[in-house]
Amino acid sequence: MQNILDKIKEIKIEASKGKSTYSAPSNIALIKYWGKYKNQIPANPSISFSLDHSKSTTSFEYQPKKNDGEISIDFLFEGEKNDAFKERIVKYFESLKALLPMLTMHHFRISSSNSFPHSSGIASSASSMSALAMNIVDMLNQLSSQALVPADFLKLSSYLARLGSGSAARSVYGGFAVWGASEFFENSSDLFAIPADSQEIHPVFQNLNDDILIIEKGMKQVSSSAGHNLMNTHPFASARFDLARSRMGEMKEILRSGNLEEFGKLVENEALMLHSMMMTSNPSYILFKPNTIAAIESIWDYRNSENVPVFFTLDAGANVHLIYPVEYETKVRSFIDSNLVVYCENAAYLCDKLGHGPEKIN
Ligand code: PMV
Repeated sequence: MQNILDKIKEIKIEASKGKSTYSAPSNIALIKYWGKYKNQIPANPSISFSLDHSKSTTSFEYQPKKNDGEISIDFLFEGEKNDAFKERIVKYFESLKALLPMLTMHHFRISSSNSFPHSSGIASSASSMSALAMNIVDMLNQLSSQALVPADFLKLSSYLARLGSGSAARSVYGGFAVWGASEFFENSSDLFAIPADSQEIHPVFQNLNDDILIIEKGMKQVSSSAGHNLMNTHPFASARFDLARSRMGEMKEILRSGNLEEFGKLVENEALMLHSMMMTSNPSYILFKPNTIAAIESIWDYRNSENVPVFFTLDAGANVHLIYPVEYETKVRSFIDSNLVVYCENAAYLCDKLGHGPEKIN
């Protein structure tokens, strides 16, 4: 990474006008990142897969301005001004301006939208920060006489996305991605995510669905960053981080061998452990809802009685993700319609699947 950072510091930028648009996906973690250190360094490595339909599309126009050291941005979310999001982006650009002086040499018009409803309880920070980071790296390429090679483009995008939102580091890739230094994944790093080698992923895991039950639409009461911070003083933190580290090896072996049953055990335990960390933080908090538990119990009953390999996972929120191989789609969707929509707000659920990663839009 250091060689890429050194290289971009040497690039002589002349302010000019340009444009870039990227869409980037949301991702769902199988081994969860929960707890971080200064500068968005994860307390443990994580592995996720990118989704297909749940994504952010961000268009990014820039034009020269006087370089007075200030960040200047107009920001639209879903076509409307959004001061809270704008402030977050201004702060993010502020944090990057020493590395990327071009950010104070231009005025930006940024417009972002999500494919999923804003009030669906689905976090948009991973998809939106990765789309934004990719636009920034694309701008750098446009203004520089020497474009980054594709692997470095993605590495730098992931590095910058991480600084915006940790889990965003993984969203610059399609399929499975690993973020955080892990002895089990060569070239993995705390600074950026890497794609998991697709040769090492058994076919049963190459076509997974992820149907998301919208248990609660509203904003969660405790933000992810507050939750990460509470891990700094958590009595079980070091045991949790050690376990997550060794689970990266277990997950790697499961993904290689195609063992669906072990996959389900590990993924579900990770989801419940994430929430148990929240419940045993000081102060304690609970992000799932009674309907989250009801849905989980119903999934367990269904799996046992019908022998269908469908497993749940949870993000830092109340919604339930159902992960299963695509060939069970008809069965699982009819189970959702008959048994699970009662637990969803307005009977809402989203149908998603493992996706192929960001797209540059012309
Ligand atoms: O990227 P953040 O700070 O929103 O944290 C996300 C943490 C989890 O979604 C709960 C787990 C993960 O690894 O994505």
